[in-house]
Amino acid sequence: MSPDRTMTFARFMELCLYDPEAGYYRRGSKIFGPGGDYYTSPYTHPLFAQILGDALAWYLSCLDADGPLDLIELGAGEGILGKGVLVRLENRHPRIFARVRYRSLEIGDDGLPERIQGVVFSNELFDALPVHRVRVSQSELKEIFVRLGEPIAEVEGELSDPRIPEYMRLGFPRWREGYVYEANLRMVEILEDLDRRFQRGFVLTLDYGFEAPEYEAMDRRDGTLLCYHRHRIHSNPYVNLGRQDLTSHVNFRVFRATAGRLGWTNRPLRSQRQFLVKWGLETRLLDEERMGILQAERLEDRLGIKALLTPGGISDTLKVQVQAVRLPAAGGFRLGPSRI
Ligand SMILES: C[S@@+](CC[C@H](N)C(=O)[O-])C[C@H]1O[C@@H](n2cnc3c(N)ncnc32)[C@H](O)[C@@H]1O
Repeated sequence: MSPDRTMTFARFMELCLYDPEAGYYRRGSKIFGPGGDYYTSPYTHPLFAQILGDALAWYLSCLDADGPLDLIELGAGEGILGKGVLVRLENRHPRIFARVRYRSLEIGDDGLPERIQGVVFSNELFDALPVHRVRVSQSELKEIFVRLGEPIAEVEGELSDPRIPEYMRLGFPRWREGYVYEANLRMVEILEDLDRRFQRGFVLTLDYGFEAPEYEAMDRRDGTLLCYHRHRIHSNPYVNLGRQDLTSHVNFRVFRATAGRLGWTNRPLRSQRQFLVKWGLETRLLDEERMGILQAERLEDRLGIKALLTPGGISDTLKVQVQAVRLPAAGGFRLGPSRI
């Protein structure tokens, strides 16, 4: 923080979310579920982790490798997704399970292996990273800084990081005068760090985000920054400091371009709904129905599945991106014709 207590928005967001004592994700208060501030997909229904487990087993089996297989979850939160995935692997994919070396990593952990052979996955990690915010002013980019005080104020200045213009060119083909955009440089750094460590494997990312046409189609003058507090969504990051979640949409154009620059192969970006359907959601629902999901005593299960499937809900707005790292694009290796 500079002496006059002015900082980039990224630094402000980092303090609000990840300050070791006062940060939202570090305070130990309830975040997910009914008593918290918001839900993520693993909290809707166990089916989500089970289907993801099937997908991960398939990607791991594609590697056709000897020895242990890494299964690394980034930003695991309370760990409920990883647990569900491992139970599914143990029950339904025992041969893969026997070879899996699972690690779950949270902010501040430095446990990423030096060499990764396997799959790295995350659910809603990248939308929780601190972002720089810039405004287009007379066709130039100005950065939005935060000046602490009473009240907290936004001030505009020159860009704090030389990587921001390139990010903006990659991420937003058309800049609109007066509009605010986010630059998620930490996201790029994480992908670059993974690349340094990957021997070969896949990166599977589930996150809220857009590609360029969606940014164009939606009138988001103030960008995509949102705040979650007690299941209410608003756009003022300067209240409830350390007590509300701050999030911004992942720019999948930059995400995919970064992967391309690193030599990875991008699979098509899908909605979470398309992903779940591809991996057998309908069959699983029929199984659930046979096991009595329509009975009154399974009302809660029903509501969970409904949350996962409601049109316009979590499965339509969340996206799934799969990337292959250092795998032959053709030859003996298949990414799966009917799979994502
Ligand atoms: C929105 S929560 C999602 C939690 C969980 N994946 C879920 O689906 O319920 C984002 C998580 O990412 C973690 N996180 C943020 N930055 C991280 C980093 N650089 N490395 C690992 N985890 C990080 C946060 O602490 C938080 O637990």
